[in-house]
Amino acid sequence: MDISTSTALVTGANRGFGKALATELLKRGATVYAGARNPDQVDLPGAKPIALDITDAASVTAAAQAAGDVTLLVNNAGSSTNADLLSAGLEDIRLEMETHYFGTLSVARAFAPRIAANGGGAILNILSGLSWVSFPELGAYSAAKSAEWSLTNALRLQLADQGIRVTGLHVGYMDTDMVKEVDAVKSAPADIARIAVDGIAAGAYEILADNAARQAQAALAGGVSVLYPQLP
Ligand SMILES: NC(=O)c1ccc[n+]([C@@H]2O[C@H](COP(=O)([O-])OP(=O)(O)OC[C@H]3O[C@@H](n4cnc5c(N)ncnc54)[C@H](OP(=O)(O)O)[C@@H]3O)[C@@H](O)[C@H]2O)c1
Repeated sequence: MDISTSTALVTGANRGFGKALATELLKRGATVYAGARNPDQVDLPGAKPIALDITDAASVTAAAQAAGDVTLLVNNAGSSTNADLLSAGLEDIRLEMETHYFGTLSVARAFAPRIAANGGGAILNILSGLSWVSFPELGAYSAAKSAEWSLTNALRLQLADQGIRVTGLHVGYMDTDMVKEVDAVKSAPADIARIAVDGIAAGAYEILADNAARQAQAALAGGVSVLYPQLP
């Protein structure tokens, strides 16, 4: 895909990885809609701020009408409630699914017909190593990222003949608010954004952005004993 002639919409572009992605796309000459629940928080010279709460059907419909010229949709917006599946409130567990699964899906459903009508393009879903391996203390997030991975696979197959390439980006820790309490090695969001946009430019279906993502994918082939060596 030629990024310089693309028109992109990045969800959750007001901070974190979404802001880094929007910055990278702008650098490469794309026209960029910066989606945010509060567009006043968008500080990205050259971008077009647009109100978008991905869990609100009316907001998604309005954004798709306002940004009908999109050819590259980046589903980045995400939540992290630190909810485990046994003791956390169901409302937190539901929020993870509402955001990562239903939110991403409803934005994809709203924009796919427009991307097709604009001659085709791409959808990039921001996934995780945790789409493939679960941390029990983050069970709700992992389950939602797995569901988002699954929808990425289904949409890829369903949209291919409409000229839309659907890509999943898997990554481990990035230095954003989402993981500010985590003490671990973290990638710079700007570095991962470069890898992401390179992947889209090259037409990749899957982008493994760091070692954590590559290790998680490799571990899948080893089954439960490799994925979860802590089990008795
Ligand atoms: N950070 C990591 O280590 C890591 C690793 C793997 C994958 N990811 C994924 O990367 C993506 C970006 O995460 P991040 O690290 O940049 O997190 P972040 O710093 O917490 O930012 C989250 C972004 O999503 C937005 N958002 C949340 N719910 C939304 C909704 N309902 N509608 C619209 N926007 C919403 C937030 O907007 P507000 O400012 O309005 O809250 C914010 O812009 C997520 O999909 C996450 O799962 C992150």
